Amino acid sequence: MTLVAVAGGVLSGLALLPALAHAEEAGLDRAIGKALFERPWVPAPSSTRANDGLGPLFDARSCSACHPAGAGRGATALDAAGRPEGLGLVLSLIREDGAADPVYGRRMETMTLPGVPAEGEIAVAVEQGRRVPRIENAGYGPLDPATFISLRAAPQLRGRGLLEQVDDAAILALEDPDDRDGDGVRGRARRLDHAEGGSAIGRFGWKASHATLASQAAEAFSLDLGLSTPERPEPWGDCSEAQTACRNAPHGRDAEGEPEIGDAIVRRIVAYLAALKVPESGADRRGARLFASTGCATCHRPELPLRDGGTVALFTDVLLHDMGDGLADPAGVPGAAAGEWRTAPLAGLSRGLARGAGLLHDGRAADVAQAVRWHGGEATRARARFDALDMRERRALLDYVSSL
Ligand code: HEC
Ligand code: HEC
Repeated sequence: MTLVAVAGGVLSGLALLPALAHAEEAGLDRAIGKALFERPWVPAPSSTRANDGLGPLFDARSCSACHPAGAGRGATALDAAGRPEGLGLVLSLIREDGAADPVYGRRMETMTLPGVPAEGEIAVAVEQGRRVPRIENAGYGPLDPATFISLRAAPQLRGRGLLEQVDDAAILALEDPDDRDGDGVRGRARRLDHAEGGSAIGRFGWKASHATLASQAAEAFSLDLGLSTPERPEPWGDCSEAQTACRNAPHGRDAEGEPEIGDAIVRRIVAYLAALKVPESGADRRGARLFASTGCATCHRPELPLRDGGTVALFTDVLLHDMGDGLADPAGVPGAAAGEWRTAPLAGLSRGLARGAGLLHDGRAADVAQAVRWHGGEATRARARFDALDMRERRALLDYVSSL
């Protein structure tokens, strides 16, 4: 009897080993992923190590330069001349036809390697609280007339792993493109077509332009850092054919044509991001009740079901909503109109506020009250209900949202 029991114990201990090894490996992947997220990449010729080749065009040297303090919000402050003080603001180049600008590409990068003409600098005029960006010292002449610019702030990335896990059917069930329930809130999922057929729901980016963390990371490597990945194999990143010095500059792609950044690196960065939890919330019943009764929760859903069971409190519905002219870009892109934005997940908001990072897609709002003031379009009724609250209720609601 005893012998059998002992043998059984040893056997089940052995069976546990692979599981333990797996957990350890996952922990190691996250630790390496964190180091890679914070690692400053260097230009190709100065490095003998693999996996380098920053630039020729880039906006920062590391992911964490724009998503600092544990993958938090980027700095959005402007100096007296309207220049970004930190790296958390980028200039996206957008077109109705979805193409890249024939010269500047998809991003006006602010940094270049020596020998490659710079694209320009970001300057921002503030007109009645609204941020109106422009390009100064443009290095390659004016933009194509069909290209428009959009200032975008680097969001915080906590909880984004669970955003990837939200059940598709649950998101689609929230769509109401024709406003059948008559509450003034429509909302539709952004469907991103795969090259091989089929489509996926856009979840990441201010306009829900990416379905997965991996594809958002691949875009960041290409546009923000000028590093190629299997998904974005061009070693020159965002240099267009018209930018010849840029195309001919040294890059880190080796003779075998392997991308500068392999799948294993992307996978580990994603593992790191996926493990970042959102702060606990929900203790404040009164605030939560006001959040619902004012209509904030119609879009900023306090709870969404996950694919494998359970729920997550991200405070988004993952849908695009028309937010009105005050927030609209100068142009739309295929799949998202000028005024349409993905409901910004509010989970983790308190961390960015504590560090003074601005809210909304271009960082224009200093606090929650200012962010609400810019809510128009489908959020007009919620804003009106917010305005109608008495001082104490309004304070309670603002405190609740600021604590998320
Ligand atoms: C130059 C600044 C900058 C750098 C460097 C940068 N990002 Fe970002 N990141 C942004 C901005 C701006 C956005 C919003 C883009 C948009 O929606 O237009 C963003 C969005 C994201 C998102 C989507 C979050 C969401 O829910 O919308 C993820 C994930 C992300 N970045 C990961 C990364 C990773 C991984 C790296 C490094 C490989 C990186 N970023 C480097 C500025 C940066
Ligand atoms: C119709 C849907 C909708 C409703 C209703 C709504 N929001 Fe939003 N909210 C959004 C969208 C979309 C954004 C992103 C807009 C942008 O950045 O241009 C946003 C952004 C925000 C932000 C900034 C988040 C960030 O990360 O920068 C805050 C704060 C916010 N909402 C609070 C509220 C509050 C409080 C209410 C209720 C009074 C409310 N919202 C009602 C859709 C909505």
